[in-house]
Amino acid sequence: MSEDPAAARGAGVEETSMADRLQTGWARRLGLTAPVVCAPMGGVAGGRLAGAVSRAGALGMIGMGSAGSVAALERELARLDTGGRPFGIGLVAWGIARDPAMLERALAAAPALVSVSFGDWEGADPHPSWVETVRAAGALAVTQVATVAEARRAVDAGVDAVVARGLEGGGHGDHREPRDALLAAVVEAVEVPVLAAGAVSTAEDVARVLGAGAAAAWAGTAFAACEEALTGDAARAVLIDADGADTVVSRVLDVALERPWPPRFPERLLRTPFVDRWQGREDELAADAEARAEFRAAVAAGDYSVVPLDAGEGVGSLAAVRPASEVVAALRLR
Ligand SMILES: Cc1cc2nc3c(=O)[nH]c(=O)nc-3n(C[C@H](O)[C@H](O)[C@H](O)COP(=O)(O)O)c2cc1C
Repeated sequence: MSEDPAAARGAGVEETSMADRLQTGWARRLGLTAPVVCAPMGGVAGGRLAGAVSRAGALGMIGMGSAGSVAALERELARLDTGGRPFGIGLVAWGIARDPAMLERALAAAPALVSVSFGDWEGADPHPSWVETVRAAGALAVTQVATVAEARRAVDAGVDAVVARGLEGGGHGDHREPRDALLAAVVEAVEVPVLAAGAVSTAEDVARVLGAGAAAAWAGTAFAACEEALTGDAARAVLIDADGADTVVSRVLDVALERPWPPRFPERLLRTPFVDRWQGREDELAADAEARAEFRAAVAAGDYSVVPLDAGEGVGSLAAVRPASEVVAALRLR
């Protein structure tokens, strides 16, 4: 362990020619002008958003979550225009276990970075084969971690970088430790670049995590209401109205839709009366076909007074539907 792990790996904050902009060695080596990754978000971060983020100088990512498939990935790749800039693809571990062709298809698109998250770093297979497959294809292999132990396991397995994802984060995750505490502990514990996730929503948040040794910010919710996102208009309006205090960590949506997410990865989402009604009573919901049918009807109708949207605690920072380029610019200005 070096005395300054962040500096040792070249992840430390650098001043660029413009005094008010931040840059890091990791981002520069990747060809980015902003040390920001737009997190892979299933159903939100498709090819249009990824392309717009990458063209703006950050790293755009296509996300494949529980509805991920080779066909869905093909569709989003066809919409991807990065103008020759780097981009990434984010998959989930249990998704590629179910459909290994997704990883193959992802690598054929020549992404600069591939993340595979929500596996079991502390389980029976500490060396998942995707790490070597991704690295052999010339992409950076990255994963999100929720604890120092997971970060160490991921580094032992050969990943190029880890994302320290705090409990404030939107969507699925293992919501255990606050972002800043987790980031500090992971930066101290491992020698690879550490990205920071969980309610990174403003330039102050970006400056804060870079100052704590992060190689880049990994921001999801901040981009969820962008005009290029797959998010529909009604959902964008709900996100813009919402506040971090409206979020809760829950399995209700997964249970209602019978999605195959492992129970240890609940999601942070916006509370609705439906969520409040079933929170803590997920087994009853699983057994109540009528309630689930009613919920599916609300999904079909796009009724977000019933259907919860994934969002992190930084959702209160969303003020308008904006192009991704504006969000990137806002995140990189101090
Ligand atoms: C709408 C939404 C969908 C998400 N889907 C995925 C996904 O498919 N794969 C993944 O690795 N992470 C997913 N995440 C989690 C993000 O990678 C990241 O951890 C999170 O967005 C960070 O917190 P923030 O939303 O507060 O910025 C999702 C997050 C959101 C908000």
